[in-house]
Amino acid sequence: MKRSTLELLCCPSCQAELSLRDEHGEETVDEGGLFCSRCERAFFIRNGVACFIDPQELEGLNRRFARFYDRISKVYALFTKMAFLPMGGERKARKEILDRLELNSGRILEVSIGSGENLPYLFESPGVGEVYGLDISAGQLARCISFINKRGWPVDLFLGAAEQLPFKAGSFDSVLHIGGINFFSGKKQAIDEMIRVARPGSKIVIADETERLAQFFNRIAGFLRRHKGEKIDVAVPLHLVPETMGEMRVDGIWKMHGQFHGYCLEFRKPA
Ligand SMILES: C[S@@+](CC[C@H](N)C(=O)[O-])C[C@H]1O[C@@H](n2cnc3c(N)ncnc32)[C@H](O)[C@@H]1O
Repeated sequence: MKRSTLELLCCPSCQAELSLRDEHGEETVDEGGLFCSRCERAFFIRNGVACFIDPQELEGLNRRFARFYDRISKVYALFTKMAFLPMGGERKARKEILDRLELNSGRILEVSIGSGENLPYLFESPGVGEVYGLDISAGQLARCISFINKRGWPVDLFLGAAEQLPFKAGSFDSVLHIGGINFFSGKKQAIDEMIRVARPGSKIVIADETERLAQFFNRIAGFLRRHKGEKIDVAVPLHLVPETMGEMRVDGIWKMHGQFHGYCLEFRKPA
């Protein structure tokens, strides 16, 4: 983590300032601790990743899916490549979403960055500025770290939950999310958090699979297995976006056999 990133961080529970303790005082912090002076929580930094959750304490769908993605992290990149093949290939499938971002050399946050499969497309854009990524799966982040180290990309990564982002309000010029929200424990909280950390006037882009594709994944991996007897709702979360947001639109994406298999929801935080 860059030392300067501390300016963007806050406590994910109470949103108070965090202070950094590390031994070396270098520009990048590989090992150290972050402390909240208000609620007295402590978070560690390991291998350059600030960790804002304890995976053992996760509950509900977040626990189920953090474990699921930990288990499949080694094959996730290959899996997505294969899955996107009948939809015109991975580049097309990802660019359909990423091209909606306004990359004006500012800061972009990818919520649920996974193993970093969007990074090659973000970094090929001349408009890309600083990139930050958060995910709930330590396994996915471990893959992402080796990917960014191999390519030498300057990306700061965080282990955390979308429902409680560890960033100050208005920190990012674009906020992106692909592929996880259908199964978040708290979709509304996650959307509210994406809006909170976005700069006023900036764009927020959220994409995931349609119910039809979720049904398919359910057949192979039990994605829609009821949680505490409750049916999992994978409808487009348009109704969870506050009406005060501007330029709201939803488009079908990932077309295959004449049908869309994903949705892309985008809107602008009022200036
Ligand atoms: C289908 S993958 C998408 C990864 C990446 N965005 C991509 O486009 O390839 C979904 C990701 O969401 C993450 N995830 C699931 N629940 C989450 C939550 N509550 N907060 C943050 N990330 C979460 C998973 O760990 C997983 O890496």
